[in-house]
Amino acid sequence: MRRQAIVAATGLAIGVLAVACITTGRGQTDDSVRGVMAQKLTHAQQALEGIANDDLNKTRLNAAALIALTHQAEWRPLEKPEYLIYSAEFRDAAESLQRHATEKNIDAAALDYVRLTLSCVNCHKHIRDARRAGIELPETFRVAALALVDRRNAEGGKP
Ligand code: HEC
Repeated sequence: MRRQAIVAATGLAIGVLAVACITTGRGQTDDSVRGVMAQKLTHAQQALEGIANDDLNKTRLNAAALIALTHQAEWRPLEKPEYLIYSAEFRDAAESLQRHATEKNIDAAALDYVRLTLSCVNCHKHIRDARRAGIELPETFRVAALALVDRRNAEGGKP
């Protein structure tokens, strides 16, 4: 029963996430920026894999990687007022996921994962709406994302 609930919750989360990624809006971001952004998706997917396979150590490590991402200087543009709520939601959910994974509380971790996914969707939705209204992403964001790629490459391309 508990397992069914977790599978249902994570299934829902994957569906929502797929929609989020498809609808982020392509065409205006170059490939290297996408590479950085895609790491969020990789860590989120691996965190889910940990929950689904009862390997909460994997979940814990990937939640930590997501949190680390938000502490990079390059994340700072996402702390601008227009993103702040979504950025805080994201970090809060990732921290809660890390804590519950450490405590081996799989039910709470599954719910954190759903919350994390909703933060992805909400931020992306916000970006999409801004684009529709003709507002471009701040230039600082692109510059910062590119700097992050350079740094990763210099470190040997490790995530
Ligand atoms: C605080 C805002 C914010 C949050 C939260 C957020 N993102 Fe993003 N994401 C962005 C921005 C900004 C871009 C770049 C959009 C662009 O330029 O098209 C992006 C782009 C992406 C892309 C690249 C899409 C493409 O065009 O190829 C992926 C994949 C992605 N995000 C995954 C995620 C996942 C998974 C999560 C949650 C675990 C997440 N994001 C949470 C802001 C956010």
